[in-house]
Amino acid sequence: MQKARAIIIREHGEPQAVAKLETLNLPSPAAGEVRVRVKFSPINPADINVLEGKYPIRPELPGTPGVEGVGIVEECGADVSGLAAADVVLLPHGFGTWREAGNVAALALVKIGSDVPLEQAAMLRINPATALVMLREFVTLQPGEWIVQNAANSAVGRCVIRLARHFGWRTVNVVRRTELVDELKADGADAVLVEGEKISAEIKSATGGAPIRLALNSVGGDSATRIAGALAFGGTIVTFGAMARQPLKIPNGMLIFQNIAWRGFWITHWYERAGRSAAATLLAELASLAARGVIATPVEAVYPLEEIAEALAHAQRPQRAGKILLRCSNP
Ligand SMILES: NC(=O)c1ccc[n+]([C@@H]2O[C@H](COP(=O)([O-])OP(=O)(O)OC[C@H]3O[C@@H](n4cnc5c(N)ncnc54)[C@H](OP(=O)(O)O)[C@@H]3O)[C@@H](O)[C@H]2O)c1
Repeated sequence: MQKARAIIIREHGEPQAVAKLETLNLPSPAAGEVRVRVKFSPINPADINVLEGKYPIRPELPGTPGVEGVGIVEECGADVSGLAAADVVLLPHGFGTWREAGNVAALALVKIGSDVPLEQAAMLRINPATALVMLREFVTLQPGEWIVQNAANSAVGRCVIRLARHFGWRTVNVVRRTELVDELKADGADAVLVEGEKISAEIKSATGGAPIRLALNSVGGDSATRIAGALAFGGTIVTFGAMARQPLKIPNGMLIFQNIAWRGFWITHWYERAGRSAAATLLAELASLAARGVIATPVEAVYPLEEIAEALAHAQRPQRAGKILLRCSNP
């Protein structure tokens, strides 16, 4: 029997305190299963919430966190077709990706080409998918239309900027740090504004008065109210994150007189609803966009599994220049 190291949590609490590296038995893959060597997996805000016990779905304890990642097929069990050793695969929700290797149902894997950088492939399933689906599902955007978003330098936000540029839409981007303005413009943002009390008016003037029908909110609190305040009559604000950990404040008049729709989005529900075939189609599209460099999520640092505490501390720091990745196994 082989062994594989994995991050295990036995209780919820402060992420650095509860995540431990352990060595587990790794049996041969059963029928219908594939043994995958995990290459990279990011630490997303949702992973932090999982470790804290504050996320609606989390592994049974003891369990291995990590909701997305990329791996290489090592061995196929009986009755597996369409996959072979050395294939590059995206790992499914629920696998627990912060591990060196594991067995996973072949049908749950999505094979992608080897032309996608592995670090980028590891981060396709959550943030780029969220960005692309939100841009398509809520409002049918016309060429040249404007979108507004806050936390625009987040992984999702940067993807929104690049996808919008690629598909011919324009973005007004709200950030909380002046030093990001030029950087995001260089990445394709049409307008970048710094968070503040007058931001609704500034957003409206950044579009030259053109109506905005879609706002994407991952902050909550006042920031959400302000970007919603820049929407045209009947516009939609989609809340998909709550980085400020502040409740939404929805002025009555925004609903009564402006008819603004306040909607929510969770990519986990989308995957459940869409089914395997639609998910594979979406991920193939994202893989192709990543292979061509249309989307690229910045990475600030890569840590081996044994430095999980440092990696988790780093992932919770504000003002990062990119994602924190775990290198789950060595080349
Ligand atoms: N619903 C879904 O399906 C779904 C899918 C993907 C992501 N999300 C959510 O989307 C959000 C962004 O995720 P990500 O992985 O893209 O993030 P990320 O790359 O880790 O970046 C975090 C962003 O949040 C900003 N931020 C942190 N604390 C803040 C605060 N108190 N007020 C305002 N901004 C703050 C950071 O700004 P600085 O750089 O200035 O620190 C940065 O822009 C998270 O809430 C995540 O859970 C939801």
